[in-house]
Amino acid sequence: MATRSTYLTDELNDYIATRFSSESAALRLLNIQALDAGIPAISISPEQTNFLQVMLRSIGATTVLEIGSLAGYSAIVMAQALPSYGVLYACEYDPTHAQFIRGKAREFGFESVIHVLEGAALQTIARLLETTDVTFDAVFIDADKVNYSAYLDLVLPRVRLGGLIIGDNALAWGEVARSATTLFEPHNVQALDAFNNHMCTHPQLQSTLVPLGDGMVVGLKIA
Ligand SMILES: C[S@@+](CC[C@H](N)C(=O)[O-])C[C@H]1O[C@@H](n2cnc3c(N)ncnc32)[C@H](O)[C@@H]1O
Repeated sequence: MATRSTYLTDELNDYIATRFSSESAALRLLNIQALDAGIPAISISPEQTNFLQVMLRSIGATTVLEIGSLAGYSAIVMAQALPSYGVLYACEYDPTHAQFIRGKAREFGFESVIHVLEGAALQTIARLLETTDVTFDAVFIDADKVNYSAYLDLVLPRVRLGGLIIGDNALAWGEVARSATTLFEPHNVQALDAFNNHMCTHPQLQSTLVPLGDGMVVGLKIA
């Protein structure tokens, strides 16, 4: 009987990625085109695509909030797991990214599903919550690390029971368990550590951390 998790080598990671990925050729191309358009290559990894889709389908998600959408890669992945009448709000601060996402949403046939909320997410989400009675089945947090905990506190009241909060970069580029990080932005590592702790101690959530990509912390709303 194993009492510790198996160490995830590059070989094992490739094994997972080649079997458990939902990345299509069109999505691969999206990332290439994004890079050509000057958008950095910091989307989720292929093995995370399938995981997000399994999560959304398992709870029958129809309404999703994404915080940090870059070029639309993960937004499109998640839109693919929603019914045709589903809605995905894609929060994106950078106007160039937001424009790119709108174009890709059209190209992938998700014009009526993906709604880009352009601007700083704390503000755009607050406005959405004030002006609508929307509740979310799932929220995927993948933007500015220092605000992860603030995003959780802001959205959780409007996540349905049985809904999910998923945060990317839970392993903080491998630095989260180090007492003194060598990264040039230690505040991001500290913020991700604080977010993980907020997720695993929150009385309304049962959370787990899945070491796919840079790690995803997943919280199920139980109260
Ligand atoms: C890691 S990328 C998101 C990757 C995307 N989820 C994917 O996998 O395809 C982070 C994005 O968050 C955006 N961002 C950063 N701070 C933000 C904020 N305060 N509000 C909204 N978006 C923000 C950045 O412009 C960037 O496009």
